[in-house]
Formats: sequence, C-alpha cells, structure tokens
Amino acid sequence: MLRRTLLALSRSGRVEQLVTTMPVSSGIVARFVAGRSSEEAVAATAGLDRDGLAVTLDHLGEDTVDREQAGRTVEAYLDVLGALSTAGLTPQAEVSVKLSAVGQALGADGSRVALDNARRICRAARDVGTTVTLDMEDHTTTDSTLDVLADLRQDFPETGAVLQAQLRRTEGDCKDLAHAGSRVRLCKGAYNEPESVAHQTRADVDRSYVRCLKVLMNGSGYPMVATHDPRLVRIAGMLAGRADRQRGTYEYQMLYGVRPEEQKRLAQLGETMRVYVPYGDQWYAYLVRRLAERPQNVTFFARSLVSKG
Ligand code: FDA
Repeated sequence: MLRRTLLALSRSGRVEQLVTTMPVSSGIVARFVAGRSSEEAVAATAGLDRDGLAVTLDHLGEDTVDREQAGRTVEAYLDVLGALSTAGLTPQAEVSVKLSAVGQALGADGSRVALDNARRICRAARDVGTTVTLDMEDHTTTDSTLDVLADLRQDFPETGAVLQAQLRRTEGDCKDLAHAGSRVRLCKGAYNEPESVAHQTRADVDRSYVRCLKVLMNGSGYPMVATHDPRLVRIAGMLAGRADRQRGTYEYQMLYGVRPEEQKRLAQLGETMRVYVPYGDQWYAYLVRRLAERPQNVTFFARSLVSKG
C-alpha cells in the first residue's frame, strides 16, 4: 500500500516542486544521489573505482516533453563521457540512459527522436571505449524501448538492455535476448504496474526473477544481476556455477548508497560489481522510487525534510 502511494507520488509535479527545494546535499538525497554536476559524478566514480567497483552513471531526468531539454540531456551525457575518459575511468565506467529523458515521451515521433539521441550517446561512449545501457521504464514503454534497442544494436551491438522480472512478459523477452554479445540487466522492476501485465506479490516477482535468471545464465549473453536481495544474489552465484560460467562472463549490479558493504564484499571475492550512480538536479522521481522499496527510508526522508525548516 505504502509502495503504491509513494510510486504514485513519484509522478506528482506538485509534490516534486515542494520537495525539491531541499538542498541536494541533505541527508537521504546525498545517500542515493552522487551530486548535481558531472564533476561530482566523476569524483564519486573515482572513489568507487578505488574500491574495485565498476560504475554505470545515470544523468537524472525522465518523462521529458520538451525537445530542447532532451537535447540538453544528450549534451550532459557527452560531457560526462568525455570527463570519465579524461579521468581514466573508461571502460570501467559506462552510462545508463532513460529513453524518456531523450525524447521517447515527445509524442508521435518520440521513438525516432529518442533513437537519434541515444545513437549520439552510443557513438560518444564507443569513442571513449565504453558502453551504454538503456534503462527500462513503465510497461507502456517496453515495446518501444526494445524496438529502439534492436535498432541501436545494429550499429552498437554492445548496448545493454534492462528487463523487469515483475512483468509477465519478461521470461519471453529474456529468451529473445539471451544470445551471444547481448548484455541484459535483470531487475525486479520499480514501477506501479497493473495486474494484467505484472506479478503483484513479492514472492511472485522473486519466482519470476529466478526463472528469468535461469534463462539468462543458461544462454550465451552477458547477464547483469541487478538486485540487493541477498537470496537472489546467492541464487545467481549458484546458477552461474551450474551453467559453468566463469567470473567476468556475468556481473552483479547494485544502486549507489544501497548495501555498500555487500558491494565491496562481492568485489573482493573477485566478482564484477557495478554500481548504478545517479547524479543531476532531477532526483525527485528516482529518490521516491528508492523510498518505496524500503519503508524505513521514509522515516529518514521525513526527518531531512523537517530539518530543512
Ligand atoms: P527488494 O526491493 O526486494 O530488496 C531486497 C533487499 O535489498 C531489501 O530487503 C533491502 O535489504 C535492500 N534494499 C533494496 N532497496 C533498498 C533501498 N532503496 N534502500 C535500502 N535498502 C534496500 N528498475 C526499473 O524498473 N528499471 C530499471 O532500468 C532499473 N535499473 C536498475 C539498475 C540497477 C543497477 C539496480 C540495482 C536496480 C535497478 N532498478 C530498475 C530497480 C529495481 O527494479 C528494484 O526496484 C530495486 O533494485 C529494488 O529491488 P531489489 O531487487 O533490490 O529487491
């Protein structure tokens, strides 16, 4: 119930306006968001790199309905890719892109604009020796995102996909994408979805995650196991072993600020652990999704709002 309410709030412009007057450095925001600027993002990446962690950087922002704003987002990615390269942080750092931030939500020709913009980011990433992963948003965008992915992969086959175990369709999508060279991030899914398309209970989502992971681990692609769930992390290790996968033929991924000790522990075991590092001004929707995942975080958030005054 709390999760659904928070996820609805993540799309409320009025609440966003109220909450985002809070300085980004305050408590809970700083825990999950690496800063506003590309300099801060690169500094956070360098720190994680020193701990043996790989990174995927996300320039925050989504549901853009303004073509110029989409263009500015592309420029921000080009800027940060250049800065990562200058700092010697590629290829260990890549970027994650939400298509709705680069034009997908622009109406009739949204998919085409998003494809053109994503192509520019993929080219810049390749120029500095790294890759792009396309984040996955709510189910109304899944087909369009997978179509853009297929187009992008014709020129940039290294482009990563994200699939959400929460959706009933995902086991089938895993089968389609478990081929050689295909990088696929499997997550549970962070959006409010109707029963017609999505599993509704945690147990059903977890069971779906395991079925999807089996497909990916037994396939010939590169699975990216994006979860903080200790049970699923253990199962992933077991399935990788059963599929005779060596370390480096799959990776774990977790979010910046979530279970950082576990991130380091897995890296110290010799596993590839990639941290998803969001940065930028538009942190509201991202943060509220993180709060929805863990009710305890709401208390911290409420405290930081009160201390603002
Ligand atoms: P779950 O939510 O069941 O949490 C398991 C345990 O992890 C919790 O009991 C707690 O210990 C810890 N934990 C989880 N979240 C926490 C939090 N916010 N704060 C503190 N502890 C927490 N989703 C999506 O729809 N599209 C996408 O593109 C992506 N991309 C993405 C990339 C990466 C690298 C990750 C790790 C996740 C995503 N997600 C995503 C988000 C994902 O769908 C999911 O919402 C979160 O990862 C939480 O799910 P868990 O698998 O961690 O399990």
